[in-house]
Amino acid sequence: MFKLAVLASGRGSNLQSIIDKLHLSKEDIKISCVISNNERAHALKRAKENNISFHLVDDQKYVKKGEYEREMIRIIDKFNVDLIVLAGYMKILSSEFIDHYKDKVINIHPSLLPAFPGLNAQKQAVDYGVKISGCTVHFVDEGVDTGPIIKQKAVYVNYEDNEDSLSRKILKFEHQLLPKAIRLIAEGKVLINKNRTVKIEEGEQGE
Ligand code: GRF
Repeated sequence: MFKLAVLASGRGSNLQSIIDKLHLSKEDIKISCVISNNERAHALKRAKENNISFHLVDDQKYVKKGEYEREMIRIIDKFNVDLIVLAGYMKILSSEFIDHYKDKVINIHPSLLPAFPGLNAQKQAVDYGVKISGCTVHFVDEGVDTGPIIKQKAVYVNYEDNEDSLSRKILKFEHQLLPKAIRLIAEGKVLINKNRTVKIEEGEQGE
């Protein structure tokens, strides 16, 4: 069995897509635990409703970031997971955390990286006036949305689009792209080269 830990700070619609498309399917990929830094995160409710072990590690309660992250590591390591998925997780992870899980942490970001990293990616895209944006699944390194790119999906941006409408369009594809990327990793088809490019052994075409 390929085991996941999912970190989420809010609504948790990407978590839900992993639950629906992988966890509840016949595939051998299961979510072992969900962790949130936010007690009001709807993601925690979604985990509870699906009988998935859920944990609040409230970052506000820790003076030092190191202690906060070590608590997460303690929980994650109990489950012996194969992959950590950041699904709307709104905090930057330190290199201590990333090194502990080398090449085992992935993130979904709502733009075509390296364009528009960081917060409010959809607003950045609308404000810039790009005609195409999209979403990216990438491995996480110490930077902000800078790690090796696994998969991307492009979305047209119309003149009439605003932050909300573009966010909705992109989110629909996020819900497909993230489970797909997880499945490819679980199948051992995703290889990171020394130059940080990612080779997907099959299914590279058509996202
Ligand atoms: C998504 O747009 C994701 O790309 C970004 O944060 C948002 C989280 O949405 N990192 P949700 O909590 O999964 O609904």
